[in-house]
Amino acid sequence: MTQFGDGALIACDRLVRIYQAEGIEVQALQGLDLTVGKGELTALVGASGSGKSTLMNILAGLDVPTAGSVRVDGHDLASMSARQRLAYRRSTVGFIWQQTARNLLPYLTGTQNVELPMRLAGAPGQARRSRCAELLEALGVAHCGPRRPDQMSGGEQQRVAIGVAIANSPSVLLADEPTGELDSVTAATVFGALQTANSALGVTVLIVTHDPAVSSMVRRVIAIRDGRTSTETLRAAAGDGTADDLGHAVEYAVLDRAGRLQLPREMTEALGMRDRVRLEQNPDHIGVWADSANGDRANGNKANGHGNGHAAGRDSAGRDSAEGAR
Ligand SMILES: Nc1ncnc2c1ncn2[C@@H]1O[C@H](COP(=O)(O)OP(=O)(O)OP(=O)(O)O)[C@@H](O)[C@H]1O
Ligand SMILES: [Mg+2]
Repeated sequence: MTQFGDGALIACDRLVRIYQAEGIEVQALQGLDLTVGKGELTALVGASGSGKSTLMNILAGLDVPTAGSVRVDGHDLASMSARQRLAYRRSTVGFIWQQTARNLLPYLTGTQNVELPMRLAGAPGQARRSRCAELLEALGVAHCGPRRPDQMSGGEQQRVAIGVAIANSPSVLLADEPTGELDSVTAATVFGALQTANSALGVTVLIVTHDPAVSSMVRRVIAIRDGRTSTETLRAAAGDGTADDLGHAVEYAVLDRAGRLQLPREMTEALGMRDRVRLEQNPDHIGVWADSANGDRANGNKANGHGNGHAAGRDSAGRDSAEGAR
């Protein structure tokens, strides 16, 4: 039997995270499904409080889910021992925080910061030095090797931080709003370094971002809404496969294993869809129409949920309604 997310590098299956704060339950993740393949560069977007950081902290091995399963590169994160968790954080994932000051040790130079995780992993001196030089060069911050963080700009600190995060060649690089504290020009250099980590150094990258410039430059953008993945936008390559060559964007919705589908609010509201929609099976797609009975209720008439739409109403409503996924 195939398992959910087989072959994916990251597979979250019905992930739930409930926080208890002063007797109040906060459901930060409410059955989130997500798969990310090896080598992908993916952006995660969503309103404040939608659960993005909660998900990143779980993927980073810093937090555990309340329910559901999560696997990253073969590691089952819900059932790791403390020792396995530490090893996981050292070698399988790299992490970059929004706060530049949180990513680097202030009293170490750029080189010492990047070498530190390799030192902890027991890498020999020569290997450390050459890997560090290679990384700083690739990330465009070779000049920051001898400098301490307070002698670097915010963007330089973030790029050195990427070097620290991927020093031990992790399978996944997680970045939670890495450009959140930067101006747009600096943000672009940091995003460029994340692209380099992905394309030249082969790391799978997952970026949480509010920055429309970032989300418009990646092929896959996943939207989280109310603790669930709701829609994703995929951009097909138009031709030569370069970073600038992002073609037509197509929006997708996540279909979970129970067959649930969340329709984007912008689409449903525009068509007056609520409470219930009418479905129509076609040979190659599913049609979704506003239930005409809803329209009546919305207008304040017939507060009666039993009336099925009448044929004529359906037809006229059907003309401009959303057509389901092919
Ligand atoms: N330690 C905690 N204790 C209680 N509630 C929490 C805790 N951490 C997060 N939450 C709540 O969980 C929900 C999701 O929070 P999360 O930080 O994941 O959101 P986010 O999508 O990262 O938002 P932002 O874009 O503002 O960073 C929010 O309602 C938040 O208040
Ligand atoms: Mg957050």
